[in-house]
Amino acid sequence: MSLTSELRIAVIPGDGIGQEIMAACLTILETIQNRTQGFKLVFDHYEIGAGLYQRTGVDMRDEDFKAIGKADAILLGSIGLPGIRYEDGTEISPHLRIRDEFGLYAGIRPVKYYPNVPRRLLDDRSALIDFVVIRESTEGLFYTHGRGEIIDDLEARETLRITRPVSEKLFDTAFKVARQRKTRGGKGTVTCVDKANVFRAFAFFRKIFNERAALNPDIQVNYNYVDAQALDLIRRPWDFDVLVMENMFGDIISDLGGGLVGGMGMAPCAELGDHHGLFQPAHGSAPDIMGQDKANPLAMFLSAAMMLDWLAERHGIPQLAEAASLLHDAVYEGFESGRLSPMEFGGHQGMTDCTRTLLDILQTPLVEKVS
Ligand SMILES: NC(=O)c1ccc[n+]([C@@H]2O[C@H](COP(=O)([O-])OP(=O)(O)OC[C@H]3O[C@@H](n4cnc5c(N)ncnc54)[C@H](O)[C@@H]3O)[C@@H](O)[C@H]2O)c1
Repeated sequence: MSLTSELRIAVIPGDGIGQEIMAACLTILETIQNRTQGFKLVFDHYEIGAGLYQRTGVDMRDEDFKAIGKADAILLGSIGLPGIRYEDGTEISPHLRIRDEFGLYAGIRPVKYYPNVPRRLLDDRSALIDFVVIRESTEGLFYTHGRGEIIDDLEARETLRITRPVSEKLFDTAFKVARQRKTRGGKGTVTCVDKANVFRAFAFFRKIFNERAALNPDIQVNYNYVDAQALDLIRRPWDFDVLVMENMFGDIISDLGGGLVGGMGMAPCAELGDHHGLFQPAHGSAPDIMGQDKANPLAMFLSAAMMLDWLAERHGIPQLAEAASLLHDAVYEGFESGRLSPMEFGGHQGMTDCTRTLLDILQTPLVEKVS
């Protein structure tokens, strides 16, 4: 690729606060690419989600689905509103179809404590929290999404599915992430979180985990049942590095992770497949605060940083990795200096003020920072 590589980003603001945080995120990305140079992000906007469904009866147009599949990356705000549902009573969820169709099996959800964020736990070691939840995102209990049955209004059934091909790729991703983190001082440990004491499907999951672990002897392995994992994430979250788990467990555990480091506004996510990457905060559309300029946009920004890193590796463009570092460093500096103070955890900054602070930090020339 040339030094001015052009990358097409499919932008889906979605619903609720997704609209607000996406607009802010695009401003941040424009600023960063002006500063870094060497690549050009072209944003193609798509209307997908509950708002579209309410207006048209369709949650995602076929042509839009095809178009986002051709993009270099997909950037998503959040999708869904509790009051807007399909006829079967479940919520509008085209993002689940996107995950399935593009095979986005690895949901990578970092949980990291930033300085000066109010501690959710009294123990001082909570300042050391830095782990990653890897949530399988195409099967597990979510496999049954849209396929569940209600029998005679007396019984409901949903089916959990674990497959060897997806599990192998999932575990390989977990070992790769642990290895990358180890080079930066990480613990080099992957914990398999399951319920292998009760369910055959999870005994199978763990068996495949062990097979892949044998191929990655430089990484330590650990095991935890999901209920014990929930306990341990309250009593000793600083001990964990990479946690890999089934879809539904990951859905729940990653919200617990977000809560440990401030709230969902601190919970970014990358959803990766073999050929596609989708980047969105782990939170939803937060209807309780939408339209009030109260959202914490940092999970959105940090998801965008994950996108830049992924694109850098995929296309071999170092300036993209540099841009990702700038964004990560700006968030860190914002908290360390006390300039970032989101309302989400008792601060005084709404979304606009948080964004302005980050833009200020990003626009400060390096010479001014070192002088
Ligand atoms: N991937 C997605 O797009 C996704 C994920 C989860 C939920 N949803 C949908 O979002 C809607 C709301 O779901 P929910 O209320 O269970 O979860 P939610 O994540 O939207 O909100 C949970 C709580 O966290 C707060 N919160 C979330 N993000 C925040 C942010 N950036 N800044 C400050 N506070 C934030 C909310 O105000 C709320 O109190 C539902 O329609 C749900 O289906 C979508």
